[in-house]
Amino acid sequence: MTLQVRNLNVFYGDSQALWDVALEVAAGDLVSLVGANGAGKTTLLKAVVGLVPATSGEVLFDGKNLRASPAEHRVRNGIVLVPEGRRLFAGLTVRENLAIGAYTRQDRSTIAADIDRVLEYFPDLSPILDRLAGNLSGGQQQMCAIGRALMSRPRLLLVDEMSLGLAPVVVDRLAETLLRVNHEEKISILVVEQDVELSLGMTRFAYVLETGRVVASGPSEQLAERGDIRAAYLGL
Ligand SMILES: Nc1ncnc2c1ncn2[C@@H]1O[C@H](COP(=O)(O)OP(=O)(O)OP(=O)(O)O)[C@@H](O)[C@H]1O
Ligand SMILES: [Mg+2]
Repeated sequence: MTLQVRNLNVFYGDSQALWDVALEVAAGDLVSLVGANGAGKTTLLKAVVGLVPATSGEVLFDGKNLRASPAEHRVRNGIVLVPEGRRLFAGLTVRENLAIGAYTRQDRSTIAADIDRVLEYFPDLSPILDRLAGNLSGGQQQMCAIGRALMSRPRLLLVDEMSLGLAPVVVDRLAETLLRVNHEEKISILVVEQDVELSLGMTRFAYVLETGRVVASGPSEQLAERGDIRAAYLGL
């Protein structure tokens, strides 16, 4: 699996949010997308999963252009987003929220087995499977949101602002789990993260967005060490 975004342009009304954006995530890759508030990070993730329309350009997945495909079709193809703010169904239980993640699949009988697999990654969810998602802590909600995404058996997981509002110790555990998912299931991961040190620290390659344009890219470790980039784009 490879995601190749080419010349992608996205508008909100008359205002252009992404300008000729190009980005690539190869099979098994861990990539981060960093940039200031309003740079277009969330817009890019949404354009990849089909939640905002792109005016032109390509979203190639395994060589197929999904740019005009409906979001559900992209989930079936193996692309899933863990959205900012988690967006769980507050009035449904953890188990129900997880099951919803499998909605695009035909093989209903395997859902229980897949929930067990999610619980191996997030054992903290086991004792609270029947609790309403609205009553969970932020960290538990994020586990449930990532778990729900895994239920669709993705090949590419997009994660928007995983750490927002969470304690550092919780964030570290979530990041470790994402690394395990990447390593053990060969799921490619693209992360957008306010915490730039965390984001660059957990990925191999990174792109820097600035007002809708990719202004730099390279191995995460190298970008993190570049003083000009840190000062100009990363607020470090
Ligand atoms: N639904 C929308 N309608 C109109 N403009 C929008 C909409 N969503 C985002 N924008 C604008 O598009 C630009 C990019 O926003 P986006 O949310 O993608 O940035 P971001 O990099 O995710 O920012 P943040 O770090 O704050 O999450 C901003 O100028 C924003 O105001
Ligand atoms: Mg955002």
